[in-house]
Amino acid sequence: MTDTARADRLIGDILGRIHQAIAEHDVTYEEFQTAKQWLIDVGEAGEWPLFLDVFVEHAVEAQVFGDRRGSQGTILGPYHLPDAPVLEAPFELPRRPDEAGDRVEFTGQVTDEHGAPIAGAELDVWHADAKGLYSGFDPSLPEGILRGKVLTDADGRYTVRTILPAPYTIPEDGPTGAMVHAAGWSPWRPAHIHVIVSAEGHEPLVTQLYIDSSDYLDNDVANAVKDELIVRPRRKEGSDELGFTYDFALAQARAAAPV
Ligand code: BEZ
Ligand code: FE
Repeated sequence: MTDTARADRLIGDILGRIHQAIAEHDVTYEEFQTAKQWLIDVGEAGEWPLFLDVFVEHAVEAQVFGDRRGSQGTILGPYHLPDAPVLEAPFELPRRPDEAGDRVEFTGQVTDEHGAPIAGAELDVWHADAKGLYSGFDPSLPEGILRGKVLTDADGRYTVRTILPAPYTIPEDGPTGAMVHAAGWSPWRPAHIHVIVSAEGHEPLVTQLYIDSSDYLDNDVANAVKDELIVRPRRKEGSDELGFTYDFALAQARAAAPV
C-alpha cells in the first residue's frame, strides 16, 4: 500500500470514528467549541507529548510489540533523557546527599531470547524521586539525578543502586489535567523504575518495573502496568537496604525491511 493510500484509510477511519461519536453522543456546538479551545490549549501548553504518552502510547506499544519474544516492554513516556552518563562501579544513580526514599539495589542478568548471557548490554535507568518528580523536568531537582546507564559484565549481570520512587500524578495544572478532572478520572501512575535495555543485534527493550507495594497498580492513568513487570523489593538480611532481582531477555533484532 502506498503512503497516500494508508494515510487516506487511516485518517479517514479516525475522522469517521469521531463523526460517529459526535452522532452517538449528540454533541452540541458548545461542546465542539470547548473541545476546539482545549486542543489549542494542549498545543500552547506544550502538552501533546504528555497527552499522547498518557492516553495513546499503551495501545501503540501493545500493537507493535504484542507478539514480542523475550521480556515484556511497556510505554516510554515523556521523561526519558537520552544523554545520561554511563556509570562506574558501584553503579549508583546520582542523587542528592539527603535524597529521601528507601535505598534499593536491584540486580539481574540480561540474556538473549534463548537464555544466553549478553555481556556489555546497556541498561538506561531513570525514575522519579520520593516526591514523584523527575530531574530535567522539575526545576526544583538538580540536573541529572536519578538517571544513569549501566553495562552488564562478562556474564550478562548488572547491579543498580538507587532509591525507591513514589507514585506520581501527571501534571494537573494544565489542559491534560483539566481533562482528567473533567472526566472524573484518577491522575495517578504507580511507583515505577524506567529501563531501556539495549545490545547490538537485539531489539531494544523499553520497559518499566512496578513496585509491588505501590498504590495505583490497578488504576494507572497511562494504562501501562503488566503483571510480568511487578517487582517485590524486600529488606536484605543484615542491611537496611531493599533488594530485588529482575532478568531481561532481549529478542533478536528484526530483519531490516527491504528498501
Ligand atoms: C511515565 O512513565 O513517566 C509517564 C508515562 C506517560 C505519561 C506520563 C509519564
Ligand atoms: Fe515514569
